[in-house]
Amino acid sequence: MHDMLVRLVHLQAAEPLVHKTWEEHGVLVRPCRPYELHLLQRWVRGNFSSKWVSEATVAMSHCPPACFIATRQARIVGFACYDTTSRGFFGPMGVSEELRGCGVGRALLVAALQRMREMGYAYAIIGGVGPADFYRKVVGATDIEESTPGIYEDMLNEE
Ligand SMILES: CC(C)(COP(=O)(O)OP(=O)(O)OC[C@H]1O[C@@H](n2cnc3c(N)ncnc32)[C@H](O)[C@@H]1OP(=O)(O)O)[C@@H](O)C(=O)NCCC(=O)NCCS
Repeated sequence: MHDMLVRLVHLQAAEPLVHKTWEEHGVLVRPCRPYELHLLQRWVRGNFSSKWVSEATVAMSHCPPACFIATRQARIVGFACYDTTSRGFFGPMGVSEELRGCGVGRALLVAALQRMREMGYAYAIIGGVGPADFYRKVVGATDIEESTPGIYEDMLNEE
């Protein structure tokens, strides 16, 4: 698990991607609202991990919340956080298994990074990457050398 760097200056616009997921799959990508925190936590716990619940909770503690969600028929189907594990970091993010490959992850990623650019960041760091090829393909992310274990050292045992 290494970190990756994304240049935000030439980031593509999020709006066409958000429009596409809505038109093609009825999936809406938008900021998560404070009163949706409990639903986000439940969904992240059910689909991912307790660690990501913690990180999503930190993202939601910012004002405005530093988290985007994807929804379909009034249910969460994806999420993407930033300024969570460290300032300037993007992640965690995830999409429901049944909707993967539909462009939802792309729309969530670009929407969150666009918000980071609007906030004044010139670069974003994707921390402890899993699917590096996804980030390379969608936003031209590059590997940060010697970034393992980075901020994820001395991890506590979950039990
Ligand atoms: C990674 C993840 C968020 C991608 O979401 P998604 O909605 O399936 O992605 P998209 O459909 O928007 O894919 C956009 C492009 O990236 C490609 N892509 C998606 N996942 C990929 C992967 N794991 N590796 C390489 N390419 C990938 C798609 O094929 C697509 O390419 P195309 O434009 O040529 O069709 C999703 O697979 C997921 O939730 N994974 C589990 C959680 C996870 O690993 N999160 C990241 C933690 S760092």
